[in-house]
Amino acid sequence: MADLEGLKVSKDYHVNVPFANQKGFFLKGINSLDWGMKKHMANIFNPESGNTVMFAFDHGYFMGSTAGLERLDLLLPQLAPYVDCFMGTRGALRTCVPPEIVKSVALRVTSGSSMIQDDLSHEIVAVDIEDAIRMNADCMAVQTFIGADGQLSSLENLNRVINAGMRYSIPTMGVCAVGKDMARTDRFFKLATRIIAEMGVQVVKTYDCENFEEVVAACPVPIVVAGGKKLSEPDALKLAYGVIQKGARGVDMGRNIFQSPHPVAMAQAVSMIVHKGATDKEALEFYQDEIHKEAQPNR
Ligand code: 5RP
Repeated sequence: MADLEGLKVSKDYHVNVPFANQKGFFLKGINSLDWGMKKHMANIFNPESGNTVMFAFDHGYFMGSTAGLERLDLLLPQLAPYVDCFMGTRGALRTCVPPEIVKSVALRVTSGSSMIQDDLSHEIVAVDIEDAIRMNADCMAVQTFIGADGQLSSLENLNRVINAGMRYSIPTMGVCAVGKDMARTDRFFKLATRIIAEMGVQVVKTYDCENFEEVVAACPVPIVVAGGKKLSEPDALKLAYGVIQKGARGVDMGRNIFQSPHPVAMAQAVSMIVHKGATDKEALEFYQDEIHKEAQPNR
């Protein structure tokens, strides 16, 4: 039985002490894996900055046609030069991404829910490892519900995908889902991200929260942060800047890019923060300059 009564609160995160077992590779937690795994991780994460801008457009897998993603075939080629990784479903990738576009791929491999349901926490592994290999996936993304009704089946899904990924050296990204009854507290994210990491994933995707630097410190693999609901551009850039400062190795941003009135400029602004060490203010200035240029194309 878990000793819930009198549970000691974790506190020694040593947030300013670098990860100790990183020698030999630029990403934490990957040092002991083989060449194939490292190659996929180096496709996703830029070895110079150590970071990644993933563009998430997998929303259709449970939301259907989503505002901003109506025409993936038009949007994706425009954004490709400014992001490091495309995160999507096999249906979207095969139909809308010309294979000539050289981009790393985070392939969404679980599905089974839709937004008209009350509980989204029951999914299946829908894409088998052979299809992930055929699609040259650099990682497989698995929705993982900790503390929700579907926890057991989503951990079963996660472990099935990790086991298959270990056979063929394809990383797994555990996507930390927030169930409808879960509060977005650091306590929840410390629990969920650490459980997901200890299952054996190579990347964790999660959300920003209070004490996020402690969530990062306690997670032994790189963390990328979802953007979440659409914010104003200044707030979205502040979010990106804040999480990079606190140790995230990148973002996996969807709505805050594709629902921006200027998605290309927004992707570039986010990339400045993630790869070039720009502040949110500098990135916002760039974004505003770009939209000014768009408005006056002949000047
Ligand atoms: C859904 C996902 C989405 O890809 C994720 O939420 C990222 O998109 P956004 O920045 O719009 O939140 O993983 O589970």
